[in-house]
Amino acid sequence: MATYPPPEDFAKRAHVQGMEACRALYDRAKERPEEFWGELAEQELFWFEKWSHVLEWNPPFAKWFAGGKINASYNCLDRHLTTPRKNKAALIWEGEPGDQRILTYQELYRLVCRFANVLKARGFQAGDRAIIYMPMIPELPVAMLACARLGITHSVVFGGFSAEALKARIQDLSAGVVITADGGWRRGKEVKLKPAVDEALADCPSVRDVIVHRRTGSDTPMQAGRDWWWHELEQNASETCPAEPLDSEHPLFVLYTSGTTGKPKGIQHATGGYLLQITATMKWVFDLKEEDTYWCTADIGWVTGHSYIVYGPLAAGATSLMYEGAPDTPQPDRFWRIIEKYRVNIFYTSPTAIRAFIRQGDQWPNRHDMSSLRLLGSVGEPINPSAWEWYYKVIGKERCPIVDTWWQTETGSILISPMPGAVPAKPGSATLPLPGIVPDVVDLNGNPVGVDREGFLIIRRPWPCMLRTLCGDPKRYEENYWSRIPGNYLTGDAARRDADGYYWILGRVDDVMNVSGHRLSTMELESALVRHPAVAEAAVVGKPHEITGQAVCAFVTLKRGDWNHDELGEDLRKWVAHEIGGFAKPEQIRFTDSLPKTRSGKIMRRLLREIVTSNTVAGDVTTLEDLGVLTALASQQDEE
Ligand code: PRX
Repeated sequence: MATYPPPEDFAKRAHVQGMEACRALYDRAKERPEEFWGELAEQELFWFEKWSHVLEWNPPFAKWFAGGKINASYNCLDRHLTTPRKNKAALIWEGEPGDQRILTYQELYRLVCRFANVLKARGFQAGDRAIIYMPMIPELPVAMLACARLGITHSVVFGGFSAEALKARIQDLSAGVVITADGGWRRGKEVKLKPAVDEALADCPSVRDVIVHRRTGSDTPMQAGRDWWWHELEQNASETCPAEPLDSEHPLFVLYTSGTTGKPKGIQHATGGYLLQITATMKWVFDLKEEDTYWCTADIGWVTGHSYIVYGPLAAGATSLMYEGAPDTPQPDRFWRIIEKYRVNIFYTSPTAIRAFIRQGDQWPNRHDMSSLRLLGSVGEPINPSAWEWYYKVIGKERCPIVDTWWQTETGSILISPMPGAVPAKPGSATLPLPGIVPDVVDLNGNPVGVDREGFLIIRRPWPCMLRTLCGDPKRYEENYWSRIPGNYLTGDAARRDADGYYWILGRVDDVMNVSGHRLSTMELESALVRHPAVAEAAVVGKPHEITGQAVCAFVTLKRGDWNHDELGEDLRKWVAHEIGGFAKPEQIRFTDSLPKTRSGKIMRRLLREIVTSNTVAGDVTTLEDLGVLTALASQQDEE
């Protein structure tokens, strides 16, 4: 197995230099966690008032820095204004059509204050909830930071979600305000957002106001008394707005993610602990330096964008780059063009994107000068060693370490990743846990499985950035994460630890799929499909996919009728896009007379997975109700 030690000149300048320093940090955090995090919290963050306890742990409920008063917006903006960072670029933004905005810390502060004053004037305050449904434009972080400034808990809904999905989130959160835009640009076309808001709001009595930013300028009907143009409300808003001193445990945001049931889970994060760990990982993992231009290509609608485009980089005083559109517009070299143009130093993307770049060919990156790059990162799914090698050679020119970062919406920050100036990389492994993180690989009884054995990845101790609860459902929080292996956090991933202590993440063990690094729940997809009038039953499984890691494959039985399978297949795909969002569209719809089930009536997805992976069925089938079904399925040609 090839290993890649940190390049010498990189290690010499790194925040954490060499394995000894890395181990010392890890050991200290493990032996004296409260002292470790307490000291770091004083060093890295601004507190209006100091906490009384670093950690209060009533398993599975944690409070970090309880009694401390803090504000995320203040930490991301105000405190930089009295330093040389005041005129530093906080955000460099490029729109898909090629428009560009560079916002210094002072300018961003002014925009955030103005918008916070707008929210205030509309009567919103600490404890209220806001839904943000926007394209990747600077007003998205402005809206987040304005909410954070006042203590309004925000929930960003990815712009690719449909009206139905948006509605479910608004209702679950009982949000009082929706912040949106007319639309955004993707692949040269306008993706409208406001019509989805209008559709969703037919059924959301909690929403008093809709604030709409004008991005594309297209025709946008506004409902009098409910809808307001951002620029009009902002006209007379003052450019200063004090940041509220909030309790460290104040919920900063809720982000919905897929679980194992049809209902998405509202992952709730707090303020102080969250800010601390994402700020620390900016140094430990991204080795952030004052002069770096840092680019994370995620969408802010997912946790990666929250932690590593907005809160982490800004709290750390970085220059964070944001790009609105698709990687292949107008040509497949858009990302490389951006790296060359802005002289990006740190580049953080997903294995799906990397695999798509490999397919497009080396000529696209090769025509650009990317010598500014010094560190590369990967997130969202396991990266296969061949994609890792390509990233290392073709993008990093064998000079740049790669950080393969493992984490989840729930964990808030990166938990397992190399420190690039210290830990030798092994392609395909997220390597070692970061300071304060105590993972293990265990069997269902919680016993460690031993070296090189596959098992469940758990985290044994609470960490500052962990989710606090599921919004409105503490019982589900407890059952989902903490009860299967009592006292330990169950990640839902399978993993293996090798003789060097390196973690190899093997994928999900539950009914959650990972498509292009986006989490999708089989149950959510199945419930969407059976809501279609033609569908009797549906079973959804992940099919290995060369680019996206997994693709959605749906097995469907139909109600009585004369159906045209080609048309219906297309119709069902559109239906899923309507119910959840375009990104969740099944790649394959396979029609079948019946589904394989156990005697108790449970659909045997394991067999379906085998069918889509190999088109044959091995394994144990003795619990099957109807064996004939399997053969019919296995031999069936795809309907597509
Ligand atoms: O299965 C793991 C996979 O993505 C899941 C978390 O998804 P989500 O909450 O949407 O957050 C994605 C961005 C942090 C995990 O349970 N995953 C994430 N990063 C990696 C990974 N799998 C392998 N290697 C990674 N580096």
